[in-house]
Amino acid sequence: MPPDVAPAPDLSPAARDTPTAPTATAPDALTTEPDALYADPLLAACYDTFDGERDDLDHYETILEELGARTVIDVGCGTGALAVRLARRGLEVTGIDPARASLDVAHDKPYAEAASWVHGTAEELPALGADAAVMTGNVAQVFLTDEAWSATLRGIHRALRPGGHVVFESRRPQARAWEQWAAETAEQSWVVPGVGRVVGLPKGVRVELPLVTFSDEFTFESGEVVSSTSTLRFRDEAELRSSLLDAGFEVAAVRDAPDRPGREFVIIARKTS
Ligand SMILES: C[S@@+](CC[C@H](N)C(=O)[O-])C[C@H]1O[C@@H](n2cnc3c(N)ncnc32)[C@H](O)[C@@H]1O
Repeated sequence: MPPDVAPAPDLSPAARDTPTAPTATAPDALTTEPDALYADPLLAACYDTFDGERDDLDHYETILEELGARTVIDVGCGTGALAVRLARRGLEVTGIDPARASLDVAHDKPYAEAASWVHGTAEELPALGADAAVMTGNVAQVFLTDEAWSATLRGIHRALRPGGHVVFESRRPQARAWEQWAAETAEQSWVVPGVGRVVGLPKGVRVELPLVTFSDEFTFESGEVVSSTSTLRFRDEAELRSSLLDAGFEVAAVRDAPDRPGREFVIIARKTS
């Protein structure tokens, strides 16, 4: 890790530790608070079980290998699923996320000690001289306003070395993922290690393109009920390309996600200026 970065500094306001759900409309604030799904300790403990096998991450490992990246920033690392895989392979990896509860889950994973963890947001990233930055799990869609998205890209740009790459995915609006989400109305249950049985109930989807908001209610064995509401922004390829150009990147490739053909853009962009 570069010498100017202390391990896991707290870059964000203390208020971020309080889970809040975003509203359905685009907030005015540059930075939104992380969703309860990531910031609530009970839900963060369930995240990896809810997500199941992470076949989606294989593609990122392959791309990073292709790029020859040795130092990598995992932006919006959440519970650190990719960061620990990279650390295990000997890459120098920094995971950054504003959701403290998710970072706590990451800290407990094997190989977590081989990575660096930053509690903060992408727009606060310092100059790290990294070879690459990744945003997996559609992190790019949590930035609802143009301002928040460009501040994120500027932060990533600052953190990369000249010629470094950002690699991320974003759902293709044309695939209309929200229609499938709206059709999923049945209860689902999981047994989460260390937590017990959790029952999830979808509470509805609201489509106000380019924003889509969905809510869920989770009931824990203890009887505790935790609700979450998330809003995502869907951007088309032209919008992604022009925002990258404005932030000082050139698009090197737009690929498909092999595990979700036709549904995602996987963008590889190079820092040019
Ligand atoms: C869908 S999760 C993906 C987590 C992880 N990348 C994965 O693949 O499992 C989205 C993540 O983005 C994080 N996030 C939200 N706002 C952010 C910001 N301004 N900067 C960095 N990460 C942010 C959330 O806290 C959450 O952990």
